[in-house]
Amino acid sequence: MKEVKLETVLEVYENLQELPESIQALMTTAIEVRNSAYSPYSKFNVGAAILMDNGEVVAGSNQENASYPSGLCAERTAIYYANAKYPNAKMQIMALSASSQTKVTDKPIPPCGACRQAIAEYEIKQNEPIQIYFMGAQGKVVKSASLANLLPLIFDNSVL
Ligand code: THU
Repeated sequence: MKEVKLETVLEVYENLQELPESIQALMTTAIEVRNSAYSPYSKFNVGAAILMDNGEVVAGSNQENASYPSGLCAERTAIYYANAKYPNAKMQIMALSASSQTKVTDKPIPPCGACRQAIAEYEIKQNEPIQIYFMGAQGKVVKSASLANLLPLIFDNSVL
């Protein structure tokens, strides 16, 4: 038996103002697009903004459904739209902000497991890392230099 240790390095910023202006701007888009969330069931609004290498920003929010599993997270709404709109562009940075309508969300909220898998697909496709910044409604911001950092032991197409 051999023990394998997995290590992830993240950067934690005290607040949005500590980050470069370009990241603040992308996160501001993510915060604004939270308002377009359709979340009558969870009352939890998530916004995702993706900066593409062609300079365009694609944003999306979570969309829920009375048949709960039919809903979609903000990250996948945004990333599927980004690749549908600009199939030849690369995704450079994704900014995420989440906010509950019923309580204070002041800690960084990372993407769920299903969204990590979806983002990973595009990181592998483009063979360049996607930086992920995530926060709650306020407070600390976490940066991951790539999606792979957030999803060790990734399932990818090399095994198919
Ligand atoms: N949600 C996201 O949009 N992204 C995540 O990474 C986690 C959860 C949404 C899905 C659902 O509309 C609500 O938040 C509560 O789970």
